[in-house]
Amino acid sequence: MSNLPLTDEQSLQAAVARRSAAARELLRAIATDFSPAVFASSLGAEDMVLTDLIVREGLPIGIFSLDTGRLPAETHDLIATVRRHYGLTLRLYYPRHDLVEAWTSENGINAFYESVELRKGCCHVRKVEPLQRALAGQRAWITGMRAQQASTRDGLPLRSVDTANGGLEKFNPLAEWSEGEVWAYIRQHGVPYNALHDRFYPSIGCAPCTRAVAAGEDVRAGRWWWENPESKECGLHVRRV
Ligand code: ADX
Ligand code: SF4
Repeated sequence: MSNLPLTDEQSLQAAVARRSAAARELLRAIATDFSPAVFASSLGAEDMVLTDLIVREGLPIGIFSLDTGRLPAETHDLIATVRRHYGLTLRLYYPRHDLVEAWTSENGINAFYESVELRKGCCHVRKVEPLQRALAGQRAWITGMRAQQASTRDGLPLRSVDTANGGLEKFNPLAEWSEGEVWAYIRQHGVPYNALHDRFYPSIGCAPCTRAVAAGEDVRAGRWWWENPESKECGLHVRRV
């Protein structure tokens, strides 16, 4: 064996191999010990890594996405690509039309730009209520969140009890991954990803609430860019401390 120091690329590959093995092991344990379990995919880069791990392992974990009705076309394109590439049809949850109709008629179609309260109201109707339906009857759910993504995610645990959603287990298998490790996995395994990532959108949500970031800007700077970083969670991930 050579004693030459590892190059940056070799260290990255080794880190990804280690992290992938740990994530695989955790996913297997969730499938075995917390069935039924579901994975919430926004089709972002992290969620594509988890999709790839779950499909390759053939794990009995349902994968769903919340189609808010305001997603970018590129995200819908990726849902279609996932179906072709993996033979996997994501379960899609839609907002209740009566709630959307009431909210838009009372507040206006784009009222989320007017205040944090209205923005959270729109997220509630389009994401949180559908999430509650998606999680009904489940013992655990899985997300693609990473601690490094935002100040609101500092210290994100691999596992917690989600009291905001009725006390089921919540797992974040990529909590400790870096952004570089996520992209190294995607490259290594030829994982399909959202075309917007190549246009400087590191984090992708609804079209009217997501913009590209400038060089050096934070990865979530393009999400609800008119708000302060502390308010930038949509209600899917409520942490009680
Ligand atoms: S969030 O603020 O929109 O929640 P982010 O886009 O960083 O944040 O997503 C974090 C995690 O929340 C994703 O990895 C995924 O597990 C879940 N998630 C976010 N949006 C959706 C969605 N539309 N459908 C399903 N899961 C989602
Ligand atoms: Fe509404 Fe924007 Fe939240 Fe999407 S991200 S649900 S459009 S406020």
